[in-house]
This record gives sequence, C-alpha cells and structure tokens, in this order.
Amino acid sequence: QYKWTYQFPLPIPPVKAPSKTIVNPVTGKNILYYEVEIKEFKSQVYPDRGQATLWGYDGISPGPTFMVEKGTETVVRFVNNARLANSVHLHGSFSRAPFDGWAEDITPPGWYKDYYYPNSQAARTLWYHDHAIDHTAENAYYGQAGAYILHDPAEDSLNLPTGYGVYDIPLILSAKQYNSDGTLFSPASETTSLYGDVIHVNGQPWPYLKVEPRKYRFRFLDASISRSFLLYLERDTKPGTKLPFDVIASDAGLLTGPQRVSELYISMAERYEIVVDFAPYKGENITLRNARDVGADNDYPDTDKIMRFIVSPTNVNDPSTLPSTLRSVPFPPTRATVDQHFKFERTNGEWKINGVSFADVNNRVLARPQRGTVQVWELENSSGGWTHPIHIHLVDFRVKKRVNGKRAVLPYEAQGLKDVVWLGPGETVTVEAHYAPWDGVYMFHCHNLIHEDHEMMAAFNVSVLAD
Ligand code: C2O
Ligand code: CU
Repeated sequence: QYKWTYQFPLPIPPVKAPSKTIVNPVTGKNILYYEVEIKEFKSQVYPDRGQATLWGYDGISPGPTFMVEKGTETVVRFVNNARLANSVHLHGSFSRAPFDGWAEDITPPGWYKDYYYPNSQAARTLWYHDHAIDHTAENAYYGQAGAYILHDPAEDSLNLPTGYGVYDIPLILSAKQYNSDGTLFSPASETTSLYGDVIHVNGQPWPYLKVEPRKYRFRFLDASISRSFLLYLERDTKPGTKLPFDVIASDAGLLTGPQRVSELYISMAERYEIVVDFAPYKGENITLRNARDVGADNDYPDTDKIMRFIVSPTNVNDPSTLPSTLRSVPFPPTRATVDQHFKFERTNGEWKINGVSFADVNNRVLARPQRGTVQVWELENSSGGWTHPIHIHLVDFRVKKRVNGKRAVLPYEAQGLKDVVWLGPGETVTVEAHYAPWDGVYMFHCHNLIHEDHEMMAAFNVSVLAD
C-alpha cells in the first residue's frame, strides 16, 4: 500500500537544450542539434522500499521536454547506453519513414542513431518513446518516454496561459506495478495487459502541485502501457461534484474552440490539453481523480486517484485569456466511400489485424493509399471486451463516427484532429485522413504496448502510384 499520496511535489521534466546549431546543406537554414543518452538510473518510488532501476532518456523519466518552434528543423542523436536495443518514434510528427522509429530499425546497445525532424506542423504536444520490435512495452515502461512541444505564432497570439512548468504544465500519466523490494514488476512476460496499481504523474506517484487561483494550461499524455483514464476534478469540500474545465487541444493541436466538460476520456498515447480556472477555489484542495470501471482495466485501491492541486488563498492577477475560437482546424475534405475495414482481433490467444501479425512480413502491408489522397478507414474492435487505442503513423485523422459501443464521438474528439483513437469494446470507429505529405511504409497499431509487442501491428505503404 502506498501511504504517501499527495505528499510529494509534481516534478517538471527539464527542457532539453540543443548542443549546437548545424546548417542544412540544402536549404542553408539552421538546424538545432541535440544529443540524448539512453541510460540506466535509480528511482526511489516507495520511501520505505528499495530503489527501482529504470532506463530513461538522459537518465530521467519522463525524459527531458523538447521545446521547438514550428519551422525549426531538429536532429536528435539518441545514444543507446541501455540494455536493450531501441528505436525512437516521435509520436505526432510526420517524420520521413527512415526517422519514424520503424520497429525493426533498432539501435543495439552501444550504438547511436541520428533522427531528423521537420517540425513543420502546427503547434501541438508530441511525445517521443521507444518503438523497438517485441520490447516497446518494456522500454517505455522502464522510462523511455518524454514530451516534445511544438509552438507556433498563431497559438502564441491567443494569450492562453503560458510559461512552461509555471502556468503551462505537462501532466504525463503512467501506471506501473512494483515488487515488495521496490523494483519494478516487469511487463516482459505479459501477453494481454499490465494495468498497474501505482499512478504516476511526471514520474512521481500521486503528486501534489501548488497553484494560484487563476487559469492553467495542462497538457495530458497517457504514457501508460495499458491503462486508460476517465479524469475528473473534485473539490475536497464537495466530494462527488465534478468541476467544469475546458478541453482546448488534442493529439494534433488546438481544437476549433474550447469544449466545456466535467470529465475527460484519455487512452494510451492520446494527448488532451485543458484549461482549468482555479479562481473560484481559493485556499481549497482540488483533486484530479480517475473513475472506476474504465474500459477493461483492473482497478486497485488507489487507481481512482491521480494528483492534488493545492490552491493558494491569495488573489493574483491573471492576464491570460481563453478565446471562444482557437483556430480553423485543417480537416481533410470529406469522402463518402470506405476505403479500408480493419478488424482488431484476438484469435487463438493472438492479437491480429485482419488476421495478420506484424511478424507476417509478406502480408503485413494492409493498405496502399496513393500519396495526397484522402482515405476513410473503419476500425472494428472484434476482440470482445478489450480496449484498443489505435494509432496511425504519419497522418492526422478526423474521427467521423463511432458505433456499436457505449458512446458516440465526443465533442473534443470531433473538434480537432487526432492520431490515436480509443476503440472501446465492440466499437467501430471511422476515421478520415489525408495520406500526405510523404510516401513510404509506416506502421499502424494498437497502443496497448503489450498488444503491439504481441503483433497487433501492421503497415501501410503510401505510394506515388495509383493502387
Ligand atoms: Cu506512440 Cu507507433 O507509436
Ligand atoms: Cu489492443
């Protein structure tokens, strides 16, 4: 049992500094060059148990936060000094295929790889994490995940709460399990899920954060390997009432406008950004909680708790605003035809997509969209009671329809573009995307990383020729 809920402060991952500027030989423009070492480190999670050994980017978890301006190219050298091979994926970036973290493009221990990122998309919260074949769950769980924030002038001009780690704060959720000696319980031999009984925010179990009575921007990322959340805020003086907040952005950046809600579904790899105004709660404690019975997940005594906000009693000036229109989202042109239907299945104890495993190298390319075209894909969960967050690399998609499950498309899913969609038990979700700007072979898969490692992954080949 963890006896220190809300006793330790929320850590803020440090901002990664570039080590030098190099010149793009083709464009003559500057490229920021970074170096990250993946290495082992110790973490004291339980004050009364031993330390856990983790492997993280720069020896911390979450890894350092990249802060990049749209239009500035970056090169990141990831030096692998950990024990397992790795492959780094910048989730949310339309990276060229050689830099997209293809699962079999692994860097063995002692080697490095340089990744090039164009950063020409609109402002958004991306994240970088391991994607190594068969070991993604282990590597991510042991610490290989971090935030990568892209800014642009259009978003900056909105006057939203700003200042990294001050009023604009990443909240990276993850759920893990520990042994009685304080070491991590490994997911390596799991074949279905590891939900985890310890909820971390930015690496710290159940932290607290002192806030002022004003607006804050929080960037949620569910970096858990298997746990989904239904988040809500509760005023300690009035338990049971869910407080209102505004969802302002999702995977691919700002929504059309703020969506007022009192609860938020977030599954693995999804990002949602919210604005919370603490002004009405001077001197109170506000707790961020997780509902019970979310998806197929196992509940444990404290998995209904996330973190606590301690609101100062002193009035402050709040110069930030929350405009009612945020941006015009570049939705793909509407297409009536369904181009692909994918079944996410469990057959004979194996996870598959349309009967295919990622290991089936001759059959795993399941779609060949012509570059520059719009395609509509139906994603069907035919695996019984499981939850599968489905991620399509390269593209931002519009969530058009959700049928046969408990809910329809939620307003905060519909009013922006996504790269992961929560596929609940029995559901079929329709997504529409523009297959651009590059050609190449990219992955799509379930982001329950245990399912992904157990073959619930396939590929699509964006080609310049008609199919
Ligand atoms: Cu977040 Cu294919 O990964
Ligand atoms: Cu899955």
